[in-house]
Amino acid sequence: MSPALSAAPVQKYDAYTATDYRIWRLLAQRQMKALKPVAATEYLRCLQDLYPILSPEHPPRFSDLSRALREAHGWSIEVVKGFLPVDEFFALLSRRRFCSSTWLRNENQLDYLEEPDMFHDIFGHIPLYLNKDYANFAQKLGALGVKYAQDEQKITQLQRLYWFTIEFGVIRQNGELKVYGAGICSSPQETKHIFENEDVKVIDFDLDRVMAQDFVIDKVQMTYFAIDSFASLFSAVDELEERWSSTVVGSK
Ligand SMILES: [Fe+2]
Repeated sequence: MSPALSAAPVQKYDAYTATDYRIWRLLAQRQMKALKPVAATEYLRCLQDLYPILSPEHPPRFSDLSRALREAHGWSIEVVKGFLPVDEFFALLSRRRFCSSTWLRNENQLDYLEEPDMFHDIFGHIPLYLNKDYANFAQKLGALGVKYAQDEQKITQLQRLYWFTIEFGVIRQNGELKVYGAGICSSPQETKHIFENEDVKVIDFDLDRVMAQDFVIDKVQMTYFAIDSFASLFSAVDELEERWSSTVVGSK
């Protein structure tokens, strides 16, 4: 990581080196090839729609990406230096802002990172913000996080919902399992693991079950939840909002 880039509150595009360009190209080309047969059609379509703003040819320029996102469903990219406290993270989502770091991994980190870099944040997360249902789902999830910021149990449930959808979500399309979570779409290991590890469990998406499922952030996932459409994902959070707002104050 370049300390100059990691400390920057805005993307300093001219600071990317020839090595950054090469690493970005390598990561993007490798992942585009891996995802073609296994990613959700919506993810692949959105990725295609973002070309050439998002492409292997150069690191993404956030101002261009934000313009495209804003025109689609009002989203934009917010530069952050590292992990954000959960309340700030949900507040950004609620305002249709997705946070991204600006640094790029080095050659020794091609396959494993301890904290997300620009490849994960942009290549993994950003394409689906062109999809209306997904974009509205993320906004509403953030808004619930803001509304119930003082309710520890609900915040944990929302973090689980985020984790098993936006980060590690899978979807069934035409009888086949496809991936759309950013943690999978930005990682060759995760992309292979879910299809090759016989111990992986894929459970049909069920809101209550997801919100009760603990997760670990430092190991490959063994449990995934499969949605049947992005519209149903939005309906789930819509239902959650209604359920929580009709709950008697003080009860969980
Ligand atoms: Fe992520």
